[in-house]
Amino acid sequence: MGTPARSGLPVTISVDGIAVTVPEGTSVMRAAAEAGIMVPKLCASDNMEAFGSCRLCVVEIEGRRGTPASCTTPVVEGMVVHTQSDKLRRMRKGVMELYISDHPLDCLTCAANGDCELQDMAGNVGLRDVRYKAPEDRSLVNHFATRDGAGINALYVPKDESNPYFTYDPAKCIVCSRCVRACEEVQGTFALTIEGRGFDSRVKAGAVSDDFLTSDCVSCGACVQACPTATLQEKSVIELGTPERSVITTCAYCGVGCSFKAE
Ligand code: FES
Repeated sequence: MGTPARSGLPVTISVDGIAVTVPEGTSVMRAAAEAGIMVPKLCASDNMEAFGSCRLCVVEIEGRRGTPASCTTPVVEGMVVHTQSDKLRRMRKGVMELYISDHPLDCLTCAANGDCELQDMAGNVGLRDVRYKAPEDRSLVNHFATRDGAGINALYVPKDESNPYFTYDPAKCIVCSRCVRACEEVQGTFALTIEGRGFDSRVKAGAVSDDFLTSDCVSCGACVQACPTATLQEKSVIELGTPERSVITTCAYCGVGCSFKAE
């Protein structure tokens, strides 16, 4: 849940009828959270800059046209925000429907079952059915097409299990880019990038490497922690299941101060 630039001056706005005072420039999403209202989100996270890609956090603002993303919209004095309406509910449901239409429906056997933000948001927006047909062959969700002079070449991207600590499963990726931003903003490594467009887009480790192990990845785990699905998953969780408790701790190895989850 990153925030746009702030002037620091306090402003008061209304979110669903609740008055809340926050520093000018705070994101509408953050202001809503201050008012005790959680706006659905997927691409935003508390420790990174707002990105505005998933469009799940749309809100209505009186006097403004359209439905802006609350994570990238800064508050101004007197703003009146509505986070709930039939229109917003329809939009969020439509967004989630598109995400789920291209996602494996294996929640019950997935290592992230019960600890998956995609699953949580599907429940949050009340998604029960998906109108769009999934590929008959679920392996097609792994597909990645490249275009060259000869036309379109469909490649099937397998799981990347090269890293000793975590796996990367492109079939479960929603391309929210949280891992890419965590690698840049939290770790400062720039090992990940997004490649391709639309259904063909995917996270890639490094510009020239074929997998995480041979990329610039330093195995800090920031990407795994940022991932809202089971795309990037610790091997220990896959093998042993989700731990009953975990704590966020800070690595003492060097002065960077990387935080990670200890289980
Ligand atoms: Fe705002 Fe994704 S959370 S656009």
